[in-house]
Amino acid sequence: MNINALKIPSISELSQDDLDALLAMEHRAYAVPWTRGNLNESLQNGHIGMACRLEGELVGYAFLMCVLDEMHLLNLTIDPGFQGRGWGRLLLEAVKDRARALGCTQLLLEVRHGNTRALALYRNSGFKPIGVSQQYYPSFHGREDAIVMRSFL
Ligand SMILES: CC(C)(COP(=O)(O)OP(=O)(O)OC[C@H]1O[C@@H](n2cnc3c(N)ncnc32)[C@H](O)[C@@H]1OP(=O)(O)O)[C@@H](O)C(=O)NCCC(=O)NCCS
Repeated sequence: MNINALKIPSISELSQDDLDALLAMEHRAYAVPWTRGNLNESLQNGHIGMACRLEGELVGYAFLMCVLDEMHLLNLTIDPGFQGRGWGRLLLEAVKDRARALGCTQLLLEVRHGNTRALALYRNSGFKPIGVSQQYYPSFHGREDAIVMRSFL
């Protein structure tokens, strides 16, 4: 058995020093990844960057944006080599805790219509679909709809 499978990552803050690791993970995790510019902007523009680290190594991350009492989950990613161990759920729970601590009453997100894994995670974590943003995401085959989801905190 892989001993890493028994370890539990810790949650901390993202910093500018994580930029290269973030970019590499974006490319491993997504067909259409955020660019270095997107990541840099998010790190510098007051978004909340949460890191999921295993013994110091970045294995996942989330970007959040607070708008009044709404927290918007802009990005939630677990490195493909570490997926399916419950760490996405762990990070999502940490995101909810952070949003509550900042006084937010709801957590909102968009997810690709075809992202069944993420949809299952969100549904099982109390999110409900509240709308569809047509042709929201770029994809290899034109564009793809986004399901807008909300969870009250
Ligand atoms: C979506 C993502 C964050 C989930 O993280 P993860 O660590 O793999 O997920 P977990 O192990 O915590 O599992 C959480 C839930 O996800 C779903 N899930 C996990 N693996 C799955 C699989 N292979 N097939 C379908 N659903 C799956 C299940 O609902 C699971 O809950 P359960 O264990 O109670 O059945 C991760 O797969 C990821 O980073 N994917 C690529 C990037 C992405 O799509 N991010 C979301 C953008 S909106």
